[in-house]
Amino acid sequence: MTDRFTGTPVAMLMTFRKDGTRLPEVIDGRIHPMSLPVTRKILFGGDYNPEQWPEDVWQQDYRLFDAARIDLVTLGVFDWALVQPAEDVYDFTLLDRIVDRASAEGRSICLATGTAAHPPWLARAHPEVTRTDFEGRRHRFGQRHNSCPSSPVFRRLSAELARRIARRYAGNPAIAAWHVGNEYGGACYCDLCAAGFRSWLRQRYRTIDELNSAWYTTFWSHTFTDWDQIEAPSALTEHWRGPDHTAFAGITLDYLRFTSDAMLANFRDEKSAIREYSPDIPVTTNFMGLYRPIDYHRWAPELDFASWDNYPPDDDSAARMALAHDLMRGLKDGQPFWLMEQTPSSTACRDVNPLKRPGLLRLWSWQAVAHGADAVLFFQLRAARGACEKYHGAVIGHAGRSDTRVFREVAELGAELDRLGAASLGARTPARVALLFDWDSWWALEISDGPSRLVRYLEVVQRYHRALWDAGADLDVVPVTADLSRYDVVVAPVLHMLKGDLPRRLEAVAARGGSVLTTFLSGRVDENDNAFLADVPGPLGELMGIRVDEWDARGPDVVNPVRLGSDDRLEVEARLLFELIVPQSAEVIGTYRADFYAGTPAVTRNTFGAGHGWYVGAGLDGTGVSWVVRQVLARHDLLGPASDLPGLESATRVTPDGARLLFLLNHRSEPVEVAARSGGVDLLTGDRVDPGAPLRLSARGVVVLREDE
Ligand code: GLA
Ligand code: ZN
Repeated sequence: MTDRFTGTPVAMLMTFRKDGTRLPEVIDGRIHPMSLPVTRKILFGGDYNPEQWPEDVWQQDYRLFDAARIDLVTLGVFDWALVQPAEDVYDFTLLDRIVDRASAEGRSICLATGTAAHPPWLARAHPEVTRTDFEGRRHRFGQRHNSCPSSPVFRRLSAELARRIARRYAGNPAIAAWHVGNEYGGACYCDLCAAGFRSWLRQRYRTIDELNSAWYTTFWSHTFTDWDQIEAPSALTEHWRGPDHTAFAGITLDYLRFTSDAMLANFRDEKSAIREYSPDIPVTTNFMGLYRPIDYHRWAPELDFASWDNYPPDDDSAARMALAHDLMRGLKDGQPFWLMEQTPSSTACRDVNPLKRPGLLRLWSWQAVAHGADAVLFFQLRAARGACEKYHGAVIGHAGRSDTRVFREVAELGAELDRLGAASLGARTPARVALLFDWDSWWALEISDGPSRLVRYLEVVQRYHRALWDAGADLDVVPVTADLSRYDVVVAPVLHMLKGDLPRRLEAVAARGGSVLTTFLSGRVDENDNAFLADVPGPLGELMGIRVDEWDARGPDVVNPVRLGSDDRLEVEARLLFELIVPQSAEVIGTYRADFYAGTPAVTRNTFGAGHGWYVGAGLDGTGVSWVVRQVLARHDLLGPASDLPGLESATRVTPDGARLLFLLNHRSEPVEVAARSGGVDLLTGDRVDPGAPLRLSARGVVVLREDE
């Protein structure tokens, strides 16, 4: 077998143990980590389901893959029914042909375990594998992502399927990675899950007294005297209006944690089954970015590398995608991730499914790379003929043509990624800004009665992220447990829940000269969602140098203007939530202009050690947030090279051998010009760029500059 592009025998490109398992590869004198698949360039390809069409079409598919330089196929994501047509029958005939074909064609394979949709016979024989919904309805066979995570039958058979697939294919050198399940998510409220919840609680709390105190059960006569009295919180029990309206936030919060852990156990079942036959090939599952039901931080240690599916809601999502990429990169401490799925043109499941405008496929793919992707993959390589995704965009449409706009754009991108080669592989983001992201805070805030249902975690996080992104700051999105010692600036919007030693670690950032920025509704509850018996913002009080006694929640139309800065010239709007701040040692940076608290502080800055604690007590608009964020960044000289050009994104990556790559991404629909901050080589054109020379980007254009040392 030879590599299609270089003609080099493939065996020379990868090293294997006698049993066929992979050794860490040494490229250019560097050992590549086992955690990510070893590659020589950014992998390019995507989900491919040839089991859905006749075999003579496969030939046509691969010739088109050649033309587009597609070098990886993700196979078997929904093949459970195909591979196991009955409980005691496994039949690999077709999957063998698919895998053999892909390897004979010299492609890498991301091989799925196929467990994300269970087959009809399984639901029929073992109804326990289906889910029970929030209203208590036991579902019958149908859909996908449909298995109860606590069902022993599901757990046994999904692991067995993964085991058999690994046993059969692990020796195939084309397998680059294992893809477990697909887009884990949702929830189940069946009796098996309720029992699973009770054992999860016993592990967490040990005694029923501990549980009662964590859940604050003295309220509304809820004191439990036996574990068996505990129900799953649902429409039939604690909830009074949908999954976010609960009488006991502590119970619902724990059920969210349990659900995430129960599905993680499913992932782990399959991963350890794979490991019995495949000790070294990396294992992943495709995440969904900013997805609330699963705490990806709790999952991250179990994955060898992170991967995710990017389906932005609209054309205007550049900042949101950057946030999601950074969150996904932050899962494995900055290690590169895979963009596992994106549509080349349109989605199908939305009410209205617009096309990606020309150039966006390229621009957004490069954006993923700029933020740490080592693979750029699509859903899907060829369009399904039937069922609900037949109108979903694909690299190859039903007619199998290569002379389409979409195919041309894909092929051009394939050629460009080839040209880049290994230049960006393994590169890291040299961030000095951290944005804290916390699923517990997200859940706790949004299942809370009061102060306001209108304050949404993601909206606030996105507003702060957008300001950082506009200012061109390279940033990491990290869990609250992350090591903060490498950052100059830590931004923690709505840090509702404070866990462990986080307050002390934030203080340490400020003490050594850094800046910590937090907002309204931070420092409110402990890890059980109980308020601190202290002034708000609880353990953040000293760092912020303030006290908050009251907070005013208002409807979306109520604006309280806030004046920012000492020259009183900037007046911005604030909405939804207005905290009444009593400064202790902090100086006032912004003040309310209306209502009975007009003239009182809305934004403060406290000197703490050699640094600052910033507190934004009101729901400032984008202009206000941007002003505050730029004050903070400027102090640390962290404004990016294109911070004054809206819509021109910049991102930096540093390769393992120390080269700095500057990515410039023009999200505007007109050309833009920016002066090179240093000389270097444009890696996409090969052109030399002098320091200060104008870099011209066409509408939706991209520049990747390897900067001189
Ligand atoms: C998800 C799934 C795919 C497919 C796409 C369609 O990402 O993983 O199987 O359904 O959505 O957009
Ligand atoms: Zn269940």
